[in-house]
Order: sequence, then structure tokens, then C-alpha cells
Amino acid sequence: MIMIRAVFLNLFVGALACLRVFLLVEAEDPYKYFTWTVIYGTISPLGVPQQGILINGQFPGPRIDCVTNDNIVVNVINKLDQPFLITWNGVKQRKNSWQDGVLGTNCPIPPNSNYTYHFQTKDQIGTFTYFPSTLMQRAAGGFGGFNIYARPGISIPYPIPTDEFTLLVGDWYKAGHKALQQTLDSGKSLPFPSGLLINGHTRKSYMFRVSNVGLSTSINFRIQGHRLKLVEVEGSHTVQDFYESLDVHVGQSVAVLVTLNQPPKDYYIVASARFTKPILTTTAILHYSNSHTPASGPLPIAPTYHIHWSMKQARTIRWNLTANAARPNPQGSFHYGTIPTVRTLVLANSKSQINGKLRYAVNRVSYVNPTTPLKLADYFNIPGVFNLNTIQDKPTPGPVFLGTSVVGTALHDFVEIIFQNNETSIQSWHLDGYDFWVVGYGNGQWIPVNRKRYNLYDATTRHTVQVYPKSWSAILVSLDNKGMWNLRSAIWDRRYLGQELYVRVWNNERSLYTEYDIPPNALRCGKVVGH
Ligand SMILES: *[C@@H]1O[C@H](CO)[C@@H](O)[C@H](O)[C@H]1NC(C)=O
Ligand SMILES: *[C@@H]1O[C@H](CO)[C@@H](O)[C@H](O)[C@H]1NC(C)=O
Ligand SMILES: *[C@@H]1O[C@H](CO)[C@@H](O)[C@H](O)[C@H]1NC(C)=O
Repeated sequence: MIMIRAVFLNLFVGALACLRVFLLVEAEDPYKYFTWTVIYGTISPLGVPQQGILINGQFPGPRIDCVTNDNIVVNVINKLDQPFLITWNGVKQRKNSWQDGVLGTNCPIPPNSNYTYHFQTKDQIGTFTYFPSTLMQRAAGGFGGFNIYARPGISIPYPIPTDEFTLLVGDWYKAGHKALQQTLDSGKSLPFPSGLLINGHTRKSYMFRVSNVGLSTSINFRIQGHRLKLVEVEGSHTVQDFYESLDVHVGQSVAVLVTLNQPPKDYYIVASARFTKPILTTTAILHYSNSHTPASGPLPIAPTYHIHWSMKQARTIRWNLTANAARPNPQGSFHYGTIPTVRTLVLANSKSQINGKLRYAVNRVSYVNPTTPLKLADYFNIPGVFNLNTIQDKPTPGPVFLGTSVVGTALHDFVEIIFQNNETSIQSWHLDGYDFWVVGYGNGQWIPVNRKRYNLYDATTRHTVQVYPKSWSAILVSLDNKGMWNLRSAIWDRRYLGQELYVRVWNNERSLYTEYDIPPNALRCGKVVGH
């Protein structure tokens, strides 16, 4: 059995209305309030009823459509029988790792309890997602789209599309999140996914925002008879090249423009699994409003295994240096390629056994969550929760061990990170709180001379980068956002079994200019109870 998860096609409704409202507001950045009740419910994404995680009765969860700098207030009421947190994938949480919604920054919301997130979508435009960050809950739903639109007066480098669709694509398992967790807890690896789906319905459309919300499978996305004009990758406006198909790895998002210039009929929208054997494929229908002809004919061809093809495509994705971002002229005089790096981290993932059970590690450390969030331990000066010497900057020989890895860095460090993948499976790495420049992809072992071939001119920034089998990917990151930030495998079984760490971006002054204060409603747990 094979599978890719459902592609959920949701009709876009809110954005234009919301833009109109904010034209009238000048003074304070607007507030948007949400109350989200999280419950179990029956869903049938593969045609067979199974338990899913619903938000306000919906699967996928409600989409958030907002505008740059909006204040977002979401009261999350947990009606599950497990602790719960939502993380906002790619929303940068400027100065505000308090709201990041991972176990290193927040106490989990206990069953029958709630927590109100409060954050601002500062200086961002683009296509993002949210999902449950604890246990294996993401396998059951609880995820949704999170689109940030430009403020009035900020031009975007493409005509405003007539309509748009937010597509959440991914692999899907019939087993359910608790069964998958049990499988991993017992020391076994995840089974092959049960499917890949695209569901919902479409209408005439122009922009497709495609996010891979799956657990472990990269996808290739394409539309029969139409080319995709790439305009955005995770909040960066790209050089607008045309593609026949695009690879989207777990945790990543892209936005493409599609001109409906073909004879009026229905066309297949196709998502297929990458780097799996056999290849799982699923389709949805693109329907021209004046079409009376069902989709037919062969599906547009996809790359098969073709790692090199994917790496080459990845290298073609570049930043449009003259396009606006959330602010005009985002590059300004800031040329990332000319800034000296103060430190190089080489992070190597590995698969091994600890006490007879499968674990994943980074530089020999397989991460375990302490019961006290790292961020709260820092704030209340509670010793013994983590140690900045647990993980080394470079891979070292020796056995894998369990630990709580935190890399200590100084605010404003400019850092190079190499993700070294010696395994035969693709990796996807995500950093919270930041965008980073993806400056290079290469085969085999990274060596310093590879720097000569970095793209130091127009690399795109993004929050999630793939690392091909037996290959490396290099990023540069400007650590200008103080806080405790999760650096994790977006491939969820790997992350659940230890392939993650935290980056502590720190300076010794407590100032609201560099970091917001602990929110008054912060939940307490572990050693923080009573503080
Ligand atoms: C829980 O919800 C109530 C409103 O119903 C709110 O006042 C309270 O702050 C929330 N609790 C937390 C910890 O955010
Ligand atoms: C880059 O952005 C500019 C400004 O919006 C736009 O005019 C131009 O077409 C874009 N260039 C490419 C190659 O995408
Ligand atoms: C990866 O494999 C190469 C070649 O087998 C070896 O030299 C290197 O030490 C390995 N690196 C890591 C980080 O495991």
C-alpha cells in the first residue's frame, strides 16, 4: 500500500474583503480574534471513517487570512484527551518565541483547558500553515492554511489574482495518530502511508498556494495542460520562472500563478509522491466554469526518482531582488552575501537504536523534551533543564545518546549551517523564528571548498529546506530574533523520535526592544509550577 495524503482544496473567500477593511485603518495595527475548540471527530479523507482532529468542527482547520502586522489572538480550547499545542509554521514571531507553540517554549495545553495565543504577523507576506506540534497529532488533522496579504500601498510583484486556492497536500495514514505513536514508541518505524489525496472542489482560479502538510513524503505538484509561474516561496517573492511541475517537500509552501488559457474543459491537478517506490499519485479537478468536458487523457508526466532533477530545480529558485516584500525594498543595503559568518554548524542526521528502539539523532544527540520548557527555564533562571554543551557544532564519532540539545548563540550572530545527510532518505529541516538564505545544495560530504559555489547573490529565503539523500544543503541565517527557537526535522516521525534541537538566541539585557516579556497568561508546568 502506498499513499500520499489528501490535497485539500479550499475555496478562497476572505482576502479581498479583508483588504478593503484595512484601507480605512491607519493608527493601530488591527486585531483579529479567534476562538478555536479542538475536538476529535469522524473524518473520511480516504473514504473510510477514522478519528480526526477538528478545529471548530472543521478538517482541515479554519484558514487564517490576514494582513501584514495584524495582531492575531487565538484562544485554543483543548477538548482532546491529550495535551496539545499549535505551532505557526513560518510565522516569525518577532521577539516573541513565547507564542511559538512548541514544547521548548510553551507548556502544553492540558485536556479541558485553554491557552490564548497573541502574536503579530510582523513584516511578512506569503503562504504559511499551522499544525499541532505535540505527539503525532499532526497525523490526524488540526492543521490549516495561514495566508498573510500585503498591506494597502505595498505593491506585490504580480497582478492581484482574480481568485485563489489554498491547497494543503500530504501523505495520509489510515492508522490514526495514537496508533502511529504506539508504533514509534514500540521502536518500529512508520509504515508506508496509506495514500495521497486531493479532495474538495475547485472553480476557475488563478493563484494556487500549495503547502505540504504531510508527515514524511515529498510531493510533486502539476496541472495538466498548464504551466506554473512561481511567484512566492514561504514569504519570499521569487524570480517568476515557469515550471511544468514543482517539488514541494514536507513543511514547505509555494505560490504559483496559473493562467487559464486552454480550451474550456476539466484538467487534472496532480500530486505525486517523490522518492518513494512505488509512486503514489492523486488528482483533483481544475474546472473551467464554461467546461462541459470531464478531464481525460494521460496525467502530465512527473519526475520519477530523479534526485538530480530536483536539486537542479531547487537551484533555479531565486529571489527577485527588485520586488517588494512586506516593506518596500526589503534588501536595502543589506547584502547577505557580503556579511562574514561568525560560526559554522555542521548538523548531521542519523538513524540508530537506543535501548533496542529506533531513534533519530543530530550530531549524536537524540532530543528529549524536558518537562520544563527551555524558554521558561531561562526566564525563571531554573538550572538543570538544559546544558549548552550537550550538542557539538560538528559531527563527532561515537554512540548516539539521549539529551536536550540547545545551541547557544548571541543575538545578531551571522551563522552558516550545513545540513549533512548521510542517509539514503530525503530530509526536510525547519527553523522557527526565521527565514534563512538557502545558498547551496550538493552531493556527498560538504567540505569548505563548496562555499565557492554558494549563491551569494540572489538565493531565496525560506523557513524549510530539503536535504537530498547522501547530500548536503547550506544556509546562512542572521540571528536577529531573540528567543528560544526550534530547529527540527519537518518529517514528523523523525522529529518525534529525536531529530530536533533548539537554538537559543541570547543577549544579557532584558529589554522590550529585543524581546517581549513573558505573556501574563503563560501556562506553568514542570519546575515552573508556583513561579
Ligand atoms: C482561557 O480563556 C479565557 C476566556 O474564555 C481567557 O480569559 C483566558 O485568558 C484563557 N486562558 C489562557 C491561559 O490563555
Ligand atoms: C521582479 O519584481 C519586479 C517588481 O515588482 C517585477 O516588475 C519583475 O517582473 C520581477 N522580475 C522577475 C524576473 O520575476
Ligand atoms: C558520512 O559518511 C562519510 C563517508 O562514508 C564519512 O566519512 C563521514 O564521517 C560521515 N559523516 C557523518 C556525519 O556521519
